[in-house]
Amino acid sequence: MKLVFISKSDKKAAWRDSLQAQLPDLEFLIWPDEISDADKASIDYALVWRPPTGVLKTFPNLKAILSLGAGVDGVLVDPELPTHIPVCRLVDRCLTQGMTEYVLYHVIRQHRRFGDYEKMTAAGEWDVFTQEDARRRGVGILGLGELGRDAAEKLVALDYDVASWSRSPKDVAGVTSFHGADGLDGFLARTQILICLLPLTDETQGIINAEHLAKLPKGAYVINCARGAHVVDDDLLAALDSGHIAGATLDVFNEEPLPKDHAYWTHPKVIMTPHAASLTVPHSAAEYVAENIRLIEAGETPMNIVDLTTGY
Ligand code: NAP
Ligand code: GLV
Repeated sequence: MKLVFISKSDKKAAWRDSLQAQLPDLEFLIWPDEISDADKASIDYALVWRPPTGVLKTFPNLKAILSLGAGVDGVLVDPELPTHIPVCRLVDRCLTQGMTEYVLYHVIRQHRRFGDYEKMTAAGEWDVFTQEDARRRGVGILGLGELGRDAAEKLVALDYDVASWSRSPKDVAGVTSFHGADGLDGFLARTQILICLLPLTDETQGIINAEHLAKLPKGAYVINCARGAHVVDDDLLAALDSGHIAGATLDVFNEEPLPKDHAYWTHPKVIMTPHAASLTVPHSAAEYVAENIRLIEAGETPMNIVDLTTGY
């Protein structure tokens, strides 16, 4: 059994070791250095993050394309993507845990005004802000999938007033579910801290735009830890500058790395991380990837096949 690894990741050796520990018969070949044209027909699986356009179709006998990330927008963007085999998303305990940590940290930071305390004490000032009741803090999560759901459940455990917006209705204890185009306005109207955990698709691109930001209550806070293209940057900057939006935590950007002259770098209401909200951890994710390969080898359906029509 042979697998080609196509990614600029600096964790190639960790992936090789972790996967081969799970699947001792697996030959792990790194594209392009370890792949000759003669090898290509013998490759069974491609494990990928943002593969260059047209590369996947050069492996004629792939059984599946396995994503190194939860989001597959960087795979589906290839106009020559083989569509007769499954593309599988990554679902992994460490990836979910990392994202939940990110969300909880930034929600609590905003709710308790820890950012304001940092600025105040740096300025040598002493003041105490009102402590708000978490039960009165409307937190809204766009996307209640693998990541959104875990974050929602843990926010509920901390007593926040949590709502979600998804394509289909959800039934998660303590979470008010909104869905579909008709549900979006009601969801936005009660959301003081907005978290984006949607996949990037034709339908969700640019969803954090002037129209939707205006429907959030004045003083709302935005956390985008999904994809940069969910945000219309000029609209967010205008809403921050007008004071309608109090601040934003941004992990992902329309262009990455963020260009040096982008207004976000110096904006006093923006805090940023470099697409690091949650990273794929090889030793953990390899267990899931190996299980998917075992399922396919056993003639069974792999987990988390992407629906190519919806794009997630
Ligand atoms: P997922 O399990 O596929 O969940 C996607 C959720 O979005 C589902 O609840 C889905 O609704 C909802 N959704 C999709 N299209 C929609 C639409 N048009 N309208 C309303 N709801 C819609 O995805 P996930 O594993 O939670 O990952 C979410 C995203 O997080 C990834 O795609 C990736 O872009 C991002 N991510 C970022 C990082 C980072 O470090 N920044 C790390 C990992 C992942 P239904 O449930 O009704 O289908
Ligand atoms: C990271 O961005 C992922 O999609 O897993």
